Amino acid sequence: MSFIAPRSALDAMLADIAVAARADLAERPRRVAEALGAHVLNPDLLAGRPCPCCPERYIRHLLHADPAGGYAVVALAWRPGQMSPVHAHRTWCAFGVHRGILTEGHYRAGGGGEPMQCGSALRPPGATCHGAADPELIHRLANLGSAEALSIHVYGVPFERFGQDVNLVYAA
Ligand SMILES: [Fe+2]
Repeated sequence: MSFIAPRSALDAMLADIAVAARADLAERPRRVAEALGAHVLNPDLLAGRPCPCCPERYIRHLLHADPAGGYAVVALAWRPGQMSPVHAHRTWCAFGVHRGILTEGHYRAGGGGEPMQCGSALRPPGATCHGAADPELIHRLANLGSAEALSIHVYGVPFERFGQDVNLVYAA
């Protein structure tokens, strides 16, 4: 008699992301966002995978690195008041909010190169967003709420290259 362990909620999401991440590049960010959206509200998604906040800044926790190096999946943990820099992406990306509420600020490049905020949107639990590698898709994610937040992000580069190949930073 063989025993097959039940697939975890995280494994189920990662399996769907793996399929979506093989889509044509033009479709890939949207398909990955849809895969995130199908699972991101599952309360068991991070069972056994603590992703604590860091007192100093928002922090990434690696959940999965594609063995072929095509993408990596991370959890970002945000204390109230923590935020990303104003940035665009050097790679395609998608994210979904697992818990807490994030605020996404949208920016456009100003005449002097300084980004100017041109809008914002609340991203509550279950919300997903996606984008292509585009220096004009400038945004900032922030936890402006009173509770910790946790979001799941997928970027189209190996995790080891996140430092240089994900964010095109405009302002800290
Ligand atoms: Fe971003």
